[in-house]
Amino acid sequence: AASGGLGGNPLFHAGFGLMLMGTGLALARNAGGKVLAEAQRRAFATLEVTSKDPGYKWILQWIRDRGGNSRHLSLETKFRSFENGRVETEFTYVPAVGAHFLSYRGAWFKVTRAREKEMVDLSSGSPWESVVLTTRNRNRHLFGELLNEAKQMSLKQEAGKTVIYTALMTEWKVFGNPRRRRPLNSVMLAGNTAQKLVDDVTEFSSSAKWYVDRGIPFRRGYLLHGPPGCGKTSFIMALAGHLEYNVCILNLNDKGLTDDRLNHLMAVLPPHSIVLLEDIDAAFVKRDPRVERYGQSVSFSGLLNMLDGAASTERRLVFMTTNHIELLDPALMRPGRVDVIEYIGQASEDQARNLFLKFFHAEAQLAAEFGRIMGSEPLASMAQLQGYLMLYKKSPTSAVKYAPRFRDALKSHAVEEAQSLNQGESDENEHTSSGADDAATLAKKTAAS
Ligand SMILES: Nc1ncnc2c1ncn2[C@@H]1O[C@H](COP(=O)(O)OP(=O)(O)OP(=O)(O)O)[C@@H](O)[C@H]1O
Ligand SMILES: [Mg+2]
Repeated sequence: AASGGLGGNPLFHAGFGLMLMGTGLALARNAGGKVLAEAQRRAFATLEVTSKDPGYKWILQWIRDRGGNSRHLSLETKFRSFENGRVETEFTYVPAVGAHFLSYRGAWFKVTRAREKEMVDLSSGSPWESVVLTTRNRNRHLFGELLNEAKQMSLKQEAGKTVIYTALMTEWKVFGNPRRRRPLNSVMLAGNTAQKLVDDVTEFSSSAKWYVDRGIPFRRGYLLHGPPGCGKTSFIMALAGHLEYNVCILNLNDKGLTDDRLNHLMAVLPPHSIVLLEDIDAAFVKRDPRVERYGQSVSFSGLLNMLDGAASTERRLVFMTTNHIELLDPALMRPGRVDVIEYIGQASEDQARNLFLKFFHAEAQLAAEFGRIMGSEPLASMAQLQGYLMLYKKSPTSAVKYAPRFRDALKSHAVEEAQSLNQGESDENEHTSSGADDAATLAKKTAAS
């Protein structure tokens, strides 16, 4: 039933299953109406959007905001729960079931909202619905514009949300409420690391043709490594928000996750997602050929296969994080599996200064001083600095005054840490995993302190 006119519309490439049909169809059922139906078919164009389609709620909102036939509305109540447990309700009105007329760019549209009483969408429990837009055939190019406008409008309202998925057996499930997007510039990385990563992902996302033409699988792997609390996870989340990706978090330690499941999950990845594998070292310390599985249910080769991926048509972006790149097997870091490796380290002078400015907007001078104290020899993670500044959030001068003391405390702590790390390493020769475990616990402890 799909026909004409919208082939070049970006929405259709984006995969929204909208259908363009001749209005005549319904009329044609009437005996003798064939001629009339044919005339109708030529004169009018119809666009049907079902409630299964992501475009459905955009269209409803759009109709409502255009006024439509405002005497016939139905109430839609939304609950929003906040992290602190507060619940807010929001009432919106959407066009009621029935026919509405509205004009758009000088053309008249008939909007019919229909509800199937017998059919229920099992995943949401709501009745199956559709909206049919009808306009004169010569105006049908407006469908594309209208959809785009509806989409933009709705995205503006949804702006700031990233959907997080986690794997549940063989399926991806939405995890919690969509999260407010963290602005990319709120995660401060050293130098131009952030920009480099944004550019790389953007470039990759837009070069499908290049990959396809050369028969190169359309995927890219990123590894962010470095000490805890320096912004690896925060940056990936912010990046996903910035580029409007969703995030699919996979925990390789998950006991139920087998190689087969991993493969399946990759095959059914929600569109437009980033796959995030956190703490990849915890799952695979340096490979010992005799004990491939390490008690985990995903094998090392299973992971490599997943990264290599069978020819996938959808772009695939995989982000991995680790605190211990030195524990990773080199086979993991081959191009094609990991294409970009970035170190995300302790706060530099610039980072410390910018964080200070985030707390105290007007204190450029003090910020510079704080930057020099904390960053001339990077010791603290951004998380530690953030914690420190929280203590003095009412007094920028105290924050600077006590900064040297804080730095020295970190320094002596770092010496201790280095010593026990060495200790850990000498142990490692005897029983492989404990050294790594010690290091990891220690690192976590300092991050928490
Ligand atoms: N570069 C940064 N800019 C701004 N805030 C940061 C930065 N790094 C860390 N933070 C803050 O510190 C906290 C911890 O950061 P995050 O979880 O991103 O660290 P991580 O590098 O992923 O650590 P881990 O290795 O332990 O997973 C977050 O609340 C985050 O806001
Ligand atoms: Mg992290």
